[in-house]
Amino acid sequence: MTRPIIIAPSILSADFGRLSAEIAAIDSAGADWIHCDVMDGHFVPNITFGPPVIKAVRGASKKIFDVHLMIAPADPFLAAFADAGSDIITVHAEAGPHLDRSLQAIRALGKKAGVSINPGTPENVIEYVLDRLDLILLMTVNPGFGGQAFIPAVLDKIRRVKALVGNRPIDIEVDGGVTPETAGAVAKAGANVLVAGSAVFKGGTAASYKANIDAIRKAAEAGRE
Ligand code: DX5
Ligand code: ZN
Repeated sequence: MTRPIIIAPSILSADFGRLSAEIAAIDSAGADWIHCDVMDGHFVPNITFGPPVIKAVRGASKKIFDVHLMIAPADPFLAAFADAGSDIITVHAEAGPHLDRSLQAIRALGKKAGVSINPGTPENVIEYVLDRLDLILLMTVNPGFGGQAFIPAVLDKIRRVKALVGNRPIDIEVDGGVTPETAGAVAKAGANVLVAGSAVFKGGTAASYKANIDAIRKAAEAGRE
């Protein structure tokens, strides 16, 4: 079954002083999901925001809040992110020793469970947790910052993960350096959810957000043909 192309703008590149308005703007511009990058200054070399900020902006859109936790440990904070209004909670396989437990905890909170792996992490770490997953997020940059260059070696990993997933109802998401130039290749390799921060928010106006989202979606759909 072919899963639909989903464009998930990362609010990391939004104007944080107007975060609710920025989320409402990408919602109207055609975003399918709202991607929230949570960083702790420990697992990754940058700090962003946590559950209170997600809760504060949750009302700005009815769309899926796709929460990418770049934090270690993650388990003590899962309930707070669920309570804040996350729909999908993704933890990094590298962030703790008990991935299976983390995924069970997310589903027990009634949320969809995702795992993310860094560019240097082999895909076999997800092999024995596939049936606990709703989403696999393959990092196409080293996490921590927006605006970095796409790492092409991950294309081969996308193809391998697609084969591992088989017919299971799991979304394959890519994150980092996704632009109209790289979207076709990731979709062709098997990714169906495309996160983009700087490529969506460039221009800074509602009209540019729509043009940017449309261009990424068009390139991804063309890549599939
Ligand atoms: C990186 C974050 C990404 C980031 C992507 O650590 O997980 O979501 O915002 O930014 P761009 O699209 O600018 O590479
Ligand atoms: Zn992310």
